[in-house]
Amino acid sequence: MIVAIDGPAGCGKSTIAKLLAKRLGFYFLNTGSFYRAVTYAHLQKGLDPKDKESVLESAKQINISVNNGNICIDGKDVEDKLHGPDVDLNASYVSSDPRVREIITSRVREVAANMDIVTEGRDTTTVIFPNAEYKFYFDASPEIRAERRIKQHPEGQTYEEVLRDIILRDENDKNKEVGALKISKDAIYIDTSYLTIDQVCEKVVSVMGKDLT
Ligand code: DC
Repeated sequence: MIVAIDGPAGCGKSTIAKLLAKRLGFYFLNTGSFYRAVTYAHLQKGLDPKDKESVLESAKQINISVNNGNICIDGKDVEDKLHGPDVDLNASYVSSDPRVREIITSRVREVAANMDIVTEGRDTTTVIFPNAEYKFYFDASPEIRAERRIKQHPEGQTYEEVLRDIILRDENDKNKEVGALKISKDAIYIDTSYLTIDQVCEKVVSVMGKDLT
């Protein structure tokens, strides 16, 4: 069974998808981490994330696997390297090339094959898993998402910087040629702005007709 959740950066998808996967006994698959891994590997080589041809090469060469929900490159867990502001912003350039998206989409499908998963990203409900049994779209205002991000990572950027980056990433996500962030017609829309994590989880589970244990 596939539970797919899409939505903008910082709307609570990852936290909730992870929790939900644990409660349902499903595997958690964060599709954004695949793009982050390509971005990280590319930056590590000292290459420009806006140079489409070299990014495509990085996507072709990379060997991504997933271990306990964490992303590995060549079998090495790199999850804690994937969430800095540099990867945050540049991943939106990396993920804008349809050729890179094709490579990542195939890899995600391979990793997910024959498993019960809760997955999240930007196009999991529309492109990667159009036949997912359950589809959700989470949303929250840019200001709320910036506040959440500051609470999670108080070091580094100011609120204004985080808000600016979120607005820029939203623009990039929504204007992609392929795999743009949009609300699938058959997805259930949940505004998480004023809901707790548990409240969102309960909404999802009630849609799925299962009790939280
Ligand atoms: O969800 P996230 O912020 O970790 O995603 C990282 C980047 O990858 C972000 O720029 C959006 C992009 N992405 C995408 O284009 N398609 C997906 N299915 C998931 C993420």
